[in-house]
Amino acid sequence: VNIGVVIAAAGQGKRMGGPVKKQFIELAEKPVLLHTLDLFAGLEYVREIVVVTAEEDVERTRELLILYPHVRVIPGGAERQDSVYLGLTALRLSDYVLIHDGARPFLSRLTLQRLIDAVCSKRAAILAVPVKDTIKRTDETGIVMDTPPRKSLWAVQTPQAFALSDIISAHEQARKDGFLGTDDASLMERLGQAVHIVDGEYTNIKLTTPDDLVFGEAILRWRKEKGQ
Ligand code: CTP
Ligand code: MG
Repeated sequence: VNIGVVIAAAGQGKRMGGPVKKQFIELAEKPVLLHTLDLFAGLEYVREIVVVTAEEDVERTRELLILYPHVRVIPGGAERQDSVYLGLTALRLSDYVLIHDGARPFLSRLTLQRLIDAVCSKRAAILAVPVKDTIKRTDETGIVMDTPPRKSLWAVQTPQAFALSDIISAHEQARKDGFLGTDDASLMERLGQAVHIVDGEYTNIKLTTPDDLVFGEAILRWRKEKGQ
């Protein structure tokens, strides 16, 4: 099998703020985007990787990734969904695709391998962890409407993995319908296609707000102490 990877890194990082976009922030003396790409380095079936960045960062990102073979850098779109679609349509060789956030650099190799195994047998598989907090739904005024049973709730992560032709069709249908989802799996779900959950990791966080950098440093330190 041939597996492609699309790394979505074309956001503006508004919630992180600060002068440096989050994929270029250094953790343990290495930019976040390189931590993310190193997750996929040397994986047996991965033949092509497309990194999608903001137009103004394409050149800089190409320079940063000069030593990375099979990696292409292309400009993204206004919404994450647009960036991912552009990445998907840039793949040339792949049967399956892993769609991953550039800002999610702490995934372990073991979990990634379990996701790859799952997509090859089930066509659509995503990483998720059981939510630890009780979740409430509110109306527009902030009054609580109800409390969905926690056992049925999962916090989903990336990578999300699909047969390439399935997810391209799902994106095209969503574009036709003007549907904007917050993840790629939701575009498959709305077509009634089964999406399988693979156990993710609580440490597979997305760097979103400044406090996440503190958690990120701690995760790297913890890994180092455990020798992983
Ligand atoms: N992303 C993208 N194209 C966009 C918007 C987001 O490729 N038009 C990417 C981001 O670069 C990030 C991932 O999607 O790696 C998850 O999005 P998010 O955490 O929301 O990042 P940003 O959009 O950059 O942050 P913010 O929403 O705070 O501005
Ligand atoms: Mg965003």
